[in-house]
Amino acid sequence: MGALGLGIAFALLVLLPSLEHQVHGKQSNYDLKKCDIYQGRWVYDASYPLYDSSLCSFIENAFACQKNGRADELYLKYKWQPFACKLPRFDAEDFLERFRDKRIMFVGDSLSLNQWQSFTCMLHAASPESEYNFERIGSTSTFTFQSHNVSLMLQRNAFLVDMEHNKYGRVLKLNSIDHEDGLAWKEFDVLIFNTWHWWLHTGRKQPWEFIQDGNTLHQDMDRFVAYEKALRTWARWVDKNVDPTKTKVFFQSISPTHWNASFWGNPEGRNCTAETRPLAEQPYPRSPHPAQVIVERVLRGMSKPVNLLNVTALSRLRKDGHPSIYGNEGHRGMDCSHWCLPGVPDTWNQLLYTELIRN
Ligand SMILES: *[C@@H]1O[C@H](CO)[C@@H](O)[C@H](O)[C@H]1NC(C)=O
Ligand SMILES: *[C@@H]1O[C@H](CO)[C@@H](O)[C@H](O)[C@H]1NC(C)=O
Ligand SMILES: *[C@@H]1O[C@H](CO)[C@@H](O)[C@H](O)[C@H]1NC(C)=O
Ligand SMILES: *[C@@H]1O[C@H](CO)[C@@H](O)[C@H](O)[C@H]1NC(C)=O
Repeated sequence: MGALGLGIAFALLVLLPSLEHQVHGKQSNYDLKKCDIYQGRWVYDASYPLYDSSLCSFIENAFACQKNGRADELYLKYKWQPFACKLPRFDAEDFLERFRDKRIMFVGDSLSLNQWQSFTCMLHAASPESEYNFERIGSTSTFTFQSHNVSLMLQRNAFLVDMEHNKYGRVLKLNSIDHEDGLAWKEFDVLIFNTWHWWLHTGRKQPWEFIQDGNTLHQDMDRFVAYEKALRTWARWVDKNVDPTKTKVFFQSISPTHWNASFWGNPEGRNCTAETRPLAEQPYPRSPHPAQVIVERVLRGMSKPVNLLNVTALSRLRKDGHPSIYGNEGHRGMDCSHWCLPGVPDTWNQLLYTELIRN
């Protein structure tokens, strides 16, 4: 090839990506596919939040910050902006169309409840006149959008592995996921798992008397070790039972808490009270959350594809997003663990939506 040929080839190389943008009139799928949507920053967007809380009467009181008297509104106005691409707009109609006759289930603790409720609100608020049906049977809640026969389900399950009540008391069994739960997770189109927040509880808040590992009952053990063993049990279940051509599996990564204001350099604050804006950069220590390290290690060892909804770092910036005193029906409780709705979990769902449509 002569110098001219090279020049043309070079010009084409430079031109092609921009041509692609023009042809589609929007960002190409190719850019979105390879984009790390979890690296970015929070930017002010006057069009936010994605829905009006008054349209979502079924939000649990624990997340209904505005109803409980939270008056500042800036925290509602932040959009997640990845560095490398633009997130597609959340399109409820498109989602319902794609997931016609399909079932999606969140499995986990109250952070799963938080994200599931956010998702039902995002869909419901888009067409408030459409009929929906809600039912709760045992630990499982089902929200169905009847127009498209799409079900969003939630199974409350704080540890993913079994908790058995037997003659020794309540026993957390690190190596087993019983038949019942196992069956209950089958035949879904999308599964989004999460577990972490209960693993560190001690004293009155600890919901077990013993931890069983193999044939040994332990009064207590290193909680991170226990967590990793349980996650490996869960990973074996997924590797054995999930058909990736039918079911997409996600793990909702660790949701960070903001109980100690000294971590973001606020000597006045003791917790998340009165925080009204996000952090611009990661607070110290900058190292990843230790539980996140475990989650990533376990996922790397799996044979079936599991997508990490990698929201830990972006949520760590949102010290302003928690209910603080505006959860718990306005009682005096303090909550720097869950998130107000509308709020941060809406972004988790926007990212989930992006993951679901970009593949
Ligand atoms: C709704 O979807 C489920 C699968 O999620 C299917 O079993 C059921 O037959 C559908 N119902 C109708 C009325 O199409
Ligand atoms: C918050 O963290 C700082 C620094 O690690 C520590 O000195 C302080 O005791 C913590 N405060 C609370 C209430 O846990
Ligand atoms: C939270 O921090 C505020 C000061 O920022 C303090 O007045 C309040 O007592 C703290 N509450 C709890 C439960 O730590
Ligand atoms: C998740 O995000 C963190 C921080 O942004 C990053 O260090 C880590 O590599 C990501 N994990 C995966 C599996 O992409």
